[in-house]
Parts: sequence; C-alpha cells; structure tokens
Amino acid sequence: MLAKFYVMFNLNQNNMIEKQLINNIALILAAGVSNRLPGKLPKQYLDVGGRSLLRMTIDAFRCHPNINNVKVVINKNHQDLYKNTVKDLKILPPTLGGDTRQKSVKLGLDSIEEINPSHVLIHDGARPLVSSEIINRVLEKLHVANGVIPVLPVNDTIKKGINEASPSPIDRSDLWRIQTPQGFNFRMILDAHRSNELVEITDDSILFEKFGKSCTPITGSEENIKITNQNDLIWLKRILSSNKLLKVATGYDVHRLGAGKGIRLSGITIPSEKSLIATSDGDVVLHAITDAILGALSAGDIGHYFPPDDETWKNVDSTVFLEKSLEIMRARQGYISHIDVTIVCEEPRISPYRKEMIDRLSSLLDISLDCVSIKATTTDGLGLSFKDQGIGAIATVSISIADIHPQL
Ligand code: CTP
Ligand code: MG
Repeated sequence: MLAKFYVMFNLNQNNMIEKQLINNIALILAAGVSNRLPGKLPKQYLDVGGRSLLRMTIDAFRCHPNINNVKVVINKNHQDLYKNTVKDLKILPPTLGGDTRQKSVKLGLDSIEEINPSHVLIHDGARPLVSSEIINRVLEKLHVANGVIPVLPVNDTIKKGINEASPSPIDRSDLWRIQTPQGFNFRMILDAHRSNELVEITDDSILFEKFGKSCTPITGSEENIKITNQNDLIWLKRILSSNKLLKVATGYDVHRLGAGKGIRLSGITIPSEKSLIATSDGDVVLHAITDAILGALSAGDIGHYFPPDDETWKNVDSTVFLEKSLEIMRARQGYISHIDVTIVCEEPRISPYRKEMIDRLSSLLDISLDCVSIKATTTDGLGLSFKDQGIGAIATVSISIADIHPQL
C-alpha cells in the first residue's frame, strides 16, 4: 500500500493560501446479505476467475497509487468469509455494518473519523470491475468539487407504469444512471449522514444534495456494473472472459554463494554455512519471479524499482520486491494463473525443501498449490550450474489480465 500524501492548496477565508494534506480513503460496502442473488455465499464472496468479487474490488482500490487506505464495511455474520478474502492484506481493519446500506455507510464513515481523511470514495463492494481510470476521474475532480459522481446516460425509452398507457413520452435526455465510486469531502459527507439518520436513502450523492451540497458528474463506465442478480453475474463472467488477456513471461537471476548463515530460496531459509551474496537476501527464485511478473506486464525489471546499488535494499527480504510486482499486476486487475520455476545448482539439494517452497510461494502469490511448480537441475557439473559457486533460477509466469476498456 502506497501511503503517499499529496498537498492541495486552498484559499482560506482570509484569502491566504493554506496547505492541506490529501488523504484519500476508499470505503467499500460489503455488509449486504444479497437477497436478490441467493446462494451458498453472499454475492460479494463469490469466486469468479480465482478471486472473490470483494477481493477484486479491494484490489482495485488498494493498488491505486492515489488511494491511501481502504476500509471495508462487512456483515457481522461474514467475519470468517472476510478474513479468508483479505488474508494478510495491509488495509485498515474492517468495521461492522448495519441492516441498510445507509446505516453501513454511516458506520463506515464513523469508523474512519479518527483518521480524518480529506476525501472518501464510497464504493459498492458488489461493483468489482471498477477501473483505475474511473478512480482517477473521481479523484481529479475532487480537487475542485466537494462531491463527485460517475454517471451514464439512459439510452432506452422509459415508460412509467407497466400496464398503463403512457400519457406522453418521458424525456430521457436529462435522465442519468448514477454509479459508485462517489467521491466526497469527508467532513461534509459525514455531517450529511449524521443529519439524516431517520430517512432511508440508498445513494450517498442524493443524501449529500439533500443537505444543499452539489455533486459534479464525471463519465461512468458501462462495465462498472453492480452485481445485483443472477443475470449480472453472467454478464460479469462474460466481461471477464472476453477481456481476459493471457500474458506469459520469464525471469532469470543468478547470485554467487559465499560464507553465511543459510540460503534464502523461494522465501524460505535452507540451513547452510553459505548464503547467496547480494544487496538483498539474494533469493534468486523471488527475483526471477518478480522479473517474470514485471515482464508479463511490460513494466520494466526489478532493478528499475530497486536499484542494486541503493543501500535502502541492503539485506532486505526479497518478498518486498515480489510484493511490488504483485501490486502493479493487481492494479491492472491481473492475477497469476500459473508459475513454474527451475532452480539451477549443484548444492543444496532442493527436493527435501520443494514442498515447503511450494507452500510459501502459494501463500506469497495468493494462488492455489496446484498452480505452483518448482523443479531443480544440476546440468551435470558442466558449468551452466555455476559449479558450486552460485545458484540460478528461471521463472515462467502466466498472468490473466482483465483488459477493462478505460472509456466504457
Ligand atoms: N450493503 C451494505 N450494507 C447493507 C446493505 C448493502 O454494506 N445493509 C452493500 C452491499 O454489500 C453492496 C452494496 O451495499 O456491496 C450495494 O447493495 P446491494 O447491491 O443492494 O447489495 P445487497 O443489499 O447485499 O443485495 P440485496 O439488496 O439483493 O439484498
Ligand atoms: Mg440491498
């Protein structure tokens, strides 16, 4: 999670320029019980293509560079489901919601009051295809507005009363469909919710406007659908499969062995009187995987983000590098579908550690065990395996990316 804070310049009442730290929090609503899409699991916890809808939604915000933190509002009966969805993601602890959407938003806003963000983006957990472009558009407009809503025109003819003759056509040129994320000045939306506890309103912008504040529209996205019923779920699967791009890339790394206290490989330590010599912990497997992921995303290589001569990375655990590449991948709604690693060395013997390595990689990459493969080879002492002087690793990664069209 990037914890960047930007500075905004405002004119205060005395026309003096005032600095304000911009701290954008995403408030994701996931406390509903999914009455219109009944099944074994509430809709936000359904798995589509390897991730739950809620996890897709959380990833879209937590990996966005200008969102400082994410707070999820959950149902008190879904706490185990939630834990399983977020595992050990570094986001704010969840808060329990109420029995209506409005109550859940209010409880969510109350729970972040102590952080006192400058802005909050309120988003339905049931809209997993929110793109970074739409988040950008909301955030940009928030520099000049107190409320921002994504809207889309109504293209179909509208009729009021299904069994009645329409007295006259309804003019739809000024009818709009409102989506989330809706962005607000935090204090103003909190005050609006606190002043409105008695009337049930399902949309935050309507509530905001009820208290005399205005919302600026930005263009929404046809793909940013809210999963409400079975039909929407079918659409979601269609969008994801039609937009799915499969990217495959390799990564390669070698480090020298020297005197030390154990060899780091695949995120575990193999007991040894040697270590891999590098600025970091020298874990060639994690380096190769990181480079493969970056390669599949055409996002440069590990040295671009972590220059080897930068002392900041001295002795650092290489999971930090891996996490960076995963963040970039998730920001593009990507997920790993398979990973295959070949470790090239004369020593140590890899097979006794293979299972532990697979377990560790599966947990680091958040993919199932059968999507991780580790092999080892010695190349018969011919030199390609660096005699006993070093260890190399080659990783091949395949990544599925939902190529969500920015303008749709
Ligand atoms: N939501 C919430 N708290 C509630 C009701 C809804 O946080 N008491 C959330 C839902 O989890 C969802 C979003 O608000 O992400 C939009 O609501 P909706 O699509 O209506 O979801 P549900 O209320 O779960 O569905 P249904 O109305 O069919 O029961
Ligand atoms: Mg509902």
